Amino acid sequence: MPVLDQEPSKGLGGRDGLPKLPLPALKDTLDMYLRGMKHLLTEEQFNKTQHVVQQFGAPGGVGELLQSKLKERRDNKANWVYDYWLNEMYLNNRQALPVNSSPVMVFPQQHFKAPMDSLRFAAHLISGALEYKTLLDSRALPVDCARGQLAGTPLCMEQYYRLFTSYRLPGPERDTLVAQESSVMPEPEHIIVACKNQFFVLDVVINFRRLNERDLLTQLEKIARMADSEEEQLPSIGLLTSDGRTEWAESRSVLMRESTNRDSLDMIERCLCLVCLDDTSGLGLNDTTRAMLMLHGGGVAKNGGNRWYDKPMQFVVGADGCCGVVCEHSPFEGIVLVQCTEYLLKYMIGSPSKLVRAASVSELPAPRRLRWKCTPEIHKLLASSADKLQRCVKNLDMNVHKFYHYGKEFIKKQKMSPDAYIQVALQLAYYRFHGRPVSTYESASIRRFQEGRVDNIRSATPEALAFVKAMTDGKLSTNDTEKMEMLQSAITAQTKYTILAITGMAIDNHLLGLREIAHELKLEKPEIFKDEAHLISNQFILSTSQVPTTVEMFCSYGPVVPNGYGVCYNPQSDHIIFSVSSFQESSQTCSAEFVKSLVQGLLDMRDLCNRCNYGSNTAQQRQGQTLETHTQTDTNWQNKTPQRPTDLTKNQQTLPQILLKTPDQTKVEAQTQTSSQEEAQALKNVKKS
Ligand code: COA
Repeated sequence: MPVLDQEPSKGLGGRDGLPKLPLPALKDTLDMYLRGMKHLLTEEQFNKTQHVVQQFGAPGGVGELLQSKLKERRDNKANWVYDYWLNEMYLNNRQALPVNSSPVMVFPQQHFKAPMDSLRFAAHLISGALEYKTLLDSRALPVDCARGQLAGTPLCMEQYYRLFTSYRLPGPERDTLVAQESSVMPEPEHIIVACKNQFFVLDVVINFRRLNERDLLTQLEKIARMADSEEEQLPSIGLLTSDGRTEWAESRSVLMRESTNRDSLDMIERCLCLVCLDDTSGLGLNDTTRAMLMLHGGGVAKNGGNRWYDKPMQFVVGADGCCGVVCEHSPFEGIVLVQCTEYLLKYMIGSPSKLVRAASVSELPAPRRLRWKCTPEIHKLLASSADKLQRCVKNLDMNVHKFYHYGKEFIKKQKMSPDAYIQVALQLAYYRFHGRPVSTYESASIRRFQEGRVDNIRSATPEALAFVKAMTDGKLSTNDTEKMEMLQSAITAQTKYTILAITGMAIDNHLLGLREIAHELKLEKPEIFKDEAHLISNQFILSTSQVPTTVEMFCSYGPVVPNGYGVCYNPQSDHIIFSVSSFQESSQTCSAEFVKSLVQGLLDMRDLCNRCNYGSNTAQQRQGQTLETHTQTDTNWQNKTPQRPTDLTKNQQTLPQILLKTPDQTKVEAQTQTSSQEEAQALKNVKKS
């Protein structure tokens, strides 16, 4: 298989027609870096960093040399940062994939009445996936266009073509992203079905005919029966893929000594995708537990071994209705995964299952169980991988929260970007709970460019810090109008950064490029990359991402540092789904408390907007006279047009906004409408036991 990490394939709607990723000016990046770090460092640290950065950027200095080399690289490559970025974000990362790297999509809870129902669901899903693959193969997928900020531009489609064709091969120091070769006479395609930790080859083309849904069900039934046969049970080899990447690379080379194992690995590495038929987890299922089960399979005693983490697409169909997709992240972003998944779910809704009657009785050859020859050495490696997975399961602190008080429509009515507003709310949540700002990552798509993946919006802006301090200082030293101006300023700063990032002018990719090209030139690592500030700037204690969906489902992922949070959010018109993760082993973090702080912040921000938009009597606002309760403000904001502070003197209009309430909402409100002050105090007092 050809290596994909060096030169991605040329694809329709990919490079063709799209501009190259620009290279920002050195001075702009260095200025932005200093500005973005100042408030995250001590004065002493900052003074040192400022000196180091000035030296780096000095005329005739090393920065200029590296920048000129990057310019050459830009001229010679479709995307100057792609390889560097892929290695840095994924392939060099030695951490285990579950929780640490692989995001998941969690489907709505399914209600299977009998085991057969889950097999029917799986057959229907596979059928949709095969149809989607046909669209990909014929390059018939319409080109995506950007939405939201700077809407309308076409986006690079290359990530789609890796959904079913790529594989992340573990390496002792660096993994390799490999792609299946497309040939004139394509090989017969197959899916790997995992069931009771056993792996089965499900050929989807037999006698030159693609299996229909009924055939697929027949084959899945056979697999379920074969998996039940206790005499034939083989060890849970999939556990090895849940280990650290270097450990898995070593185990894989041990496995490869046996030809039986080589054949089995080859079948898995060349499959289209996995379908994991999970056993009932035995857990009470809610959004949080389903996200956890999707992220790690529930550990060795549950479905932790029923996975193969190297494969980008693993569809999970749990007997208890816990379903979703586990995705190896290196070939594509969550947005592409969502597009594919939404297609499948819409396919399943829109094209009702054709399995009205029993499964097919046609004489299809039975699916093949993959065999493993396990030496005592492999058993030892399996035990070690199992231990580590157990630790990972125990360590995950997950909290999925559906915030029903308002969604992006309310925010848009404030004439604010919903994404920027949510990011500011996350800054407020972290600051209120932890009392300090931290380096924050928000993924920004750069698919407007050839082979574009993402850059980082550094959401911990100085403007956001000023706002969150004013909101949490506990005194009435800042009145509402001033707070509102600070909120506006934080939103403006965040929105500006977003626009810079999506137009390829953010700083993280650029700094990475400068560091890597110095390495390539075998220069001594420049001081700017050895400086403590560089380390702090890349410790993303808040790792955040917007993954919106138009079908009921949500995305979850884990934190990227031991004392951090992974926060994925899905803004809907009248509610927002937050998936918050952290590690139990960190005494500094707690997902449930973070969520509490977030909810309080979102309510406080809403109330602030409502109060500031309430009256035209700005003098009254300046004296800090505020409306006290959420109930009052609810009434007010439903009856008044929200206006920015600068608009306060203008005439007010009636706001034609209706809050759509779901049955759950009353309960959520009851849980979250505690007094702001009480809650702020409680949060300050929180110490993780
Ligand atoms: N007033 C009123 N409405 C506004 C507004 C304002 N001041 N600013 C924005 N809006 C509207 C937009 O027009 C848009 O409307 P739509 O819902 O009709 O399309 C909506 O609010 C959302 O815009 P916004 O909240 O600003 O965000 P966005 O959709 O532009 O998203 C990013 C911003 C950074 C999330 C997006 O550009 C991006 O990069 N997404 C990819 C992230 C990613 O890769 N995630 C997966 C990682 S694995």
